[in-house]
Amino acid sequence: MASTVRTLVVVDHGVDVHDLTNLVTSDTGISVVGVVDGMEEAWRTLEDSSCDVLVVACQGYSERALALIGGAIKQEPDRPVLVLAQGAPSGFVRRTFEAGADDILMLPQTPDAVRFSIHKLVARKSQKTSPSAENQGRLICVLGPKGGSGKTLVSANLAVALAAAGQRVAIVDLDLQFGDVALSLALSPERTFYDLALADGTLDSQKLDAYLMPHSSGVYVLLAPTRPDQASSISVELIRDVYACLRSTFDAIIIDTPPGFTAEVIATIDAATDLVIVGMLDAASLKNTKLGLETLELMGCDPQMIRMVLNRSQSQVGITQSDVAKVLGRSPDIFIPSDREISRSVNEAVPIVLAKPTSEAAIAFRQLASLVTGGAISAPGQDGVEAAHGRRRIFGRKN
Ligand SMILES: Nc1ncnc2c1ncn2[C@@H]1O[C@H](COP(=O)(O)OP(=O)(O)O)[C@@H](O)[C@H]1O
Ligand SMILES: [Mg+2]
Repeated sequence: MASTVRTLVVVDHGVDVHDLTNLVTSDTGISVVGVVDGMEEAWRTLEDSSCDVLVVACQGYSERALALIGGAIKQEPDRPVLVLAQGAPSGFVRRTFEAGADDILMLPQTPDAVRFSIHKLVARKSQKTSPSAENQGRLICVLGPKGGSGKTLVSANLAVALAAAGQRVAIVDLDLQFGDVALSLALSPERTFYDLALADGTLDSQKLDAYLMPHSSGVYVLLAPTRPDQASSISVELIRDVYACLRSTFDAIIIDTPPGFTAEVIATIDAATDLVIVGMLDAASLKNTKLGLETLELMGCDPQMIRMVLNRSQSQVGITQSDVAKVLGRSPDIFIPSDREISRSVNEAVPIVLAKPTSEAAIAFRQLASLVTGGAISAPGQDGVEAAHGRRRIFGRKN
């Protein structure tokens, strides 16, 4: 790609062209090759002229803008698309990402912020060659029918294992009433999902950035509210928008869930690329895990998306692993032993993948990390864990 980023700006009805001309300017590495007034005209210009970045400015819920983004991505999948949205209603952010946009900024913005975003997108695209839709991060939903089965344990350890392998990782604590990801990672809940829900304005990547708490492993966490009564302020619509924003910026987003199929959990399953089911070796847990698997089947989930984790797999309770396979109709993919070191690491709020990287449990969590990325990452030892500490990236400023 040329050192100067050729940028085409398309302005939909309702947005002032004059304002946009002042906002997206030719400056330090960016050359604006055209400002097109109206979507109809834009189709023709896109056919005739070549550009490195497409900027689409729109107002409200613009189907025209969504159609243009989708068409531009089809025409040239590797060309980044930045959306500048004015007064976008809820749901629009998600639709723009679904259409293939790479980032969205809410107007008003400063020229510096737009320039920064354009350079960021170009840098990111030049590192990735696959089509935009495939550049979305994986959304990994960790499910378990019962409280105490190990969902939070799996979420935290899977996250740090992926971060240690160089992935950009976020966790969302969707156990909105009694979430304890903050406890498991020793994070103080300075900002939570509740604060995000109360914040003014539409969601965009920059805004979400301010509500993510950084962990020393490089993982970023959207924490659950600190009090159960705050949970009702968080709508399913907001949750979906949060996922869309995170998927455009992180390689893997892990969702730690409460027990059961709540509306939030169902929305997460719908949006997920991977489902990790955590079960234990006792009759009640097995029965509920089987019901959970059947429910996912009824919801039309592809069985290939599902990874089964058997936690406390060596407990001496009279149920063998072959009993498990018989009851569930499938063998677990990953076995996590019952281990006093796990209890200790939970109490010390250091995931066992970091606290005891050579333990059987840590190895199992790294296997799970490798499994959900389709073997795209290798399972590192202590070196990989340490390397990740130096690899921490700032959300919104990656690449
Ligand atoms: N394999 C294990 N070995 C030892 N303790 C475990 C193991 N799995 C879970 N625990 C303990 O059980 C408790 C509940 O686990 P957690 O991950 O919070 O469950 P959930 O999120 O499903 O409610 C944790 O405090 C943890 O210490
Ligand atoms: Mg939990």
